[in-house]
Amino acid sequence: MLTQKSIKAPNSLLLAMVIAITLLSVFSSVYAQSPWPEKMKNPKVLSKSTTTNELRATMRGFSRALGVNCVHCHVAENRRDFSTYDFASDANQNKVSARTMMRMVGEINEKQLTKLADHQTSSLSVNCMTCHQGKEKPTTLEQELNAVIETDGVAAAIEKYRELRTNYYGGSSYNFSENTLNGLGYQLLGKEQFDDAIAIFKLNVEMNPASGNPYDSLADGYMQAGKNWLAFINYSKSLELNPRNKNAEKMLNKLKGVLNSE
Ligand code: HEC
Ligand code: HEC
Repeated sequence: MLTQKSIKAPNSLLLAMVIAITLLSVFSSVYAQSPWPEKMKNPKVLSKSTTTNELRATMRGFSRALGVNCVHCHVAENRRDFSTYDFASDANQNKVSARTMMRMVGEINEKQLTKLADHQTSSLSVNCMTCHQGKEKPTTLEQELNAVIETDGVAAAIEKYRELRTNYYGGSSYNFSENTLNGLGYQLLGKEQFDDAIAIFKLNVEMNPASGNPYDSLADGYMQAGKNWLAFINYSKSLELNPRNKNAEKMLNKLKGVLNSE
């Protein structure tokens, strides 16, 4: 009869061997798949003497700054398999554009910023993240929404806002503070797109229900659209949340007169 001890010993030896073989094969396959060459084959901006570590840091930096994977700029048969990438190829237009960006960043840092009087004492420089903030193109939330309003209307823009908020809230890619929607609403109001402005101000109230200013802006929208009762209600709400809102106080007094005579 086998005792527990006598099976345990050979088993743990076997286990150790299995682990060793597995580790070895994992390491060797990772090594074989490693995209990082000793020397770059096709450097046009980076220096020929760029080391593997520098190249790795640069490429990971690009990916992070744009919020993309390697395949955004490099051609591959299978995006998940490094051995199918041709990193030296220039067939991907984004790689070519990225070189233009690298030259632009170099020009800003080396030729322009160095002209500033206090630059010698400053350690500031521009990099991909400065503008891109985790996005393929460095758009602002306001630009994204404006573009959708122009092509598909305000309802689609509100959908877009919700989608972006779900995906990006908490990161640095877009400014989800109440100021963005507030500014966008006033832009629309300035163009006399009253319904669009009101829809955006309403969204801002929904997103910031405890803040006084979005109600004040919504009230401004209703007021300009001639909807005095709705303006009155929202100025009141704003004043309730922020008793120091002088504008709401002033507008409420004005509206009382108007509503009484209506
Ligand atoms: C935003 C675009 C962009 C992204 C994302 C990007 N690369 Fe690159 N990559 C470039 C550019 C541009 C070059 C060429 C630079 C030059 O010409 O000096 C390059 C060069 C390389 C090279 C050297 C090719 C040669 O000439 O031998 C390797 C390897 C490489 N990238 C790997 C990666 C890996 C791995 C990733 C993902 C972690 C990645 N890259 C992500 C733009 C990008
Ligand atoms: C000063 C701001 C700024 C900096 C810094 C910057 N970019 Fe850009 N980048 C832009 C703008 C703006 C666009 C969009 C241009 C357009 O669409 O006409 C863009 C577009 C791109 C595109 C093309 C996207 C497309 O879909 O056509 C790539 C790739 C890119 N940048 C990579 C980089 C990389 C890599 C870096 C760092 C080396 C970088 N950018 C640094 C502003 C910047």
